[in-house]
Amino acid sequence: MQKLRPRWLAAPLLLAMPLAWAAQTAAVQDNIPKQALDATAAPTTMATLATVRPVTAKHAMVVSDQHLATEVGVDILKQGGNAIDAAVAVGYAQAVVNPCCGNIGGGGFMLVHLADGQNVFLDFREKAPLKASPTMYQDASGNVVPGRSTGTYLGVGVPGTVMGLDAALKKYGTMPLHKVIAPAIKLARDGFVLQQGDINVLNQRVKDFARYPNVAAIFLNHGKPFVAGERLRQPQLAHTLELIDKGGEKAFYHGDIARKVVAASQANGGLFTMQDFADYTVQWDKPISCGYRGYTVVSDPPPSSGGITICQILQILQPYPLGKWGYGSVKSIHYMAEAERRAFADRNTALGDPAFVHNPIDQLLSQHHADTLRATIQPDKATPSSEIKGDLGPVEGTNTTHYSVVDEHGNAVAVTYTINYLFGVGQIAGDTGFFLNNEMDDFTSKPGVPNSFGLIQGKANQIEPGKRPLSSMSPTIVLRDGKLFMVTGSPGGSTIISTTMESFINVAAFGMNMQQAVDAPRLHQQWYPDMVFVEPGLLTTKTQSALEAMGYKFKLVKSWGADEAILVNPHTGLLEGANDRRRPAGLAAGF
Ligand code: DON
Repeated sequence: MQKLRPRWLAAPLLLAMPLAWAAQTAAVQDNIPKQALDATAAPTTMATLATVRPVTAKHAMVVSDQHLATEVGVDILKQGGNAIDAAVAVGYAQAVVNPCCGNIGGGGFMLVHLADGQNVFLDFREKAPLKASPTMYQDASGNVVPGRSTGTYLGVGVPGTVMGLDAALKKYGTMPLHKVIAPAIKLARDGFVLQQGDINVLNQRVKDFARYPNVAAIFLNHGKPFVAGERLRQPQLAHTLELIDKGGEKAFYHGDIARKVVAASQANGGLFTMQDFADYTVQWDKPISCGYRGYTVVSDPPPSSGGITICQILQILQPYPLGKWGYGSVKSIHYMAEAERRAFADRNTALGDPAFVHNPIDQLLSQHHADTLRATIQPDKATPSSEIKGDLGPVEGTNTTHYSVVDEHGNAVAVTYTINYLFGVGQIAGDTGFFLNNEMDDFTSKPGVPNSFGLIQGKANQIEPGKRPLSSMSPTIVLRDGKLFMVTGSPGGSTIISTTMESFINVAAFGMNMQQAVDAPRLHQQWYPDMVFVEPGLLTTKTQSALEAMGYKFKLVKSWGADEAILVNPHTGLLEGANDRRRPAGLAAGF
């Protein structure tokens, strides 16, 4: 493998969990982000997998990990809105009914496939404040101060979601903002009944809610954790959304909302000024695309690493007859793990915000590079990660949300957006009612030193004023013969990349239906740590022994990710939607 940048470190990565989660996740003991450690998500056996079917619809479909948000999107589509209208409506609704992850206090990416064949990408990732600096998370002796980038106002990036949704609606939507934001306002004002799936998510940070009275007043029920069947009302968020409804993105970036966030930031040691909000911009860009056995995979460019890494993995895998070898076979697991290992080794310090650093995209995606990497895979032996040159691949935060929309005209939208940790920085500015992100933690806190997630990254992703942190989010659209085939994506930090890639390859190579592809136990290899993460049900005892004899080490993790996907069945023309079994509050629905 070609060395792209100086190596900062090549030692096994010990991934530290944020303190708030450590207790709940200690039982699982692993080095993987803890997305959707969901007590109600039953492990899938091969027998169960054989019987699962996607939800089908003739005309249009929405899949998200919160059922009420899905219903909002379907309603908009039924009223004649297009996929972009629905995606904006779901984006605002998710900010209310899925407050861990859906947001107006964070940022993300939208990938759009238009019925006329165009593919466009919208980057509304957060930006670093103008007063940010490369060493802002270090003390006077140059040591990274734990928690500074994750639990304080210093960790908050300038939110991009409101401007992103606004830009998408103005450019490709057909409905006024009032119409698409109205359902979110209603859900916030009237409240909604929490299901066990929602409670499982809230419970993961329930102890932190008590730390701040303005958070406790909303997310605790008279000081106690909410239980299933109770109603969560968010009148302050309703008011904030009403301001956006009346004043558009100006209300957020130039009005009272920005003023309140800036005031809270300044009162709590943060760096924000009104200039940060006034200067914020979103960016339309060209997506990344690559071929895999007749399919065209379209995904996101930097500042995400997702599209490039997914394409690298697929280009390495392309010649191998995975379908013949079979899902879960020794050979498939071996080659998938080795392809991931090599692509992840590349992904780290070469990539960063394209407004600040050059990303060697053509080189990473060249056929020559894929051939070179493939040639280093040994047929019967795991390659120790220490033998692969590159810079240490990061492991990132664990909570985010992805949703997919297809309308009856053939437009498709894939959105992944996030506040990074579950409930972001865990703080709400004054009475704004929404959680702020801690996305700044995705930057390099110090080259060679792991941040709170064990991220060890390089200079390309160092903090600079106005820069966007490198992401793994991967909203992805797949085409076949130029026609829409699949819309997919997931939360899960660095595992987003393998989860999204596997949701596609499970269909394209292993012949699964969309629900099977999303539900199937996953594997993840990210160079370091030098082990393969697997969900229960993937390995038989025999397969595991055979792979261990080849040098593999496995770490069993209960579950990760929440892939929300739609497939257009080329034979029937029907839309096939799959809500990930790991998110029981989610829903695929259409008409
Ligand atoms: O942008 C990123 O890659 C991370 N901030 C995403 C965090 C994430 O996916 C957490 N998800 N479950």
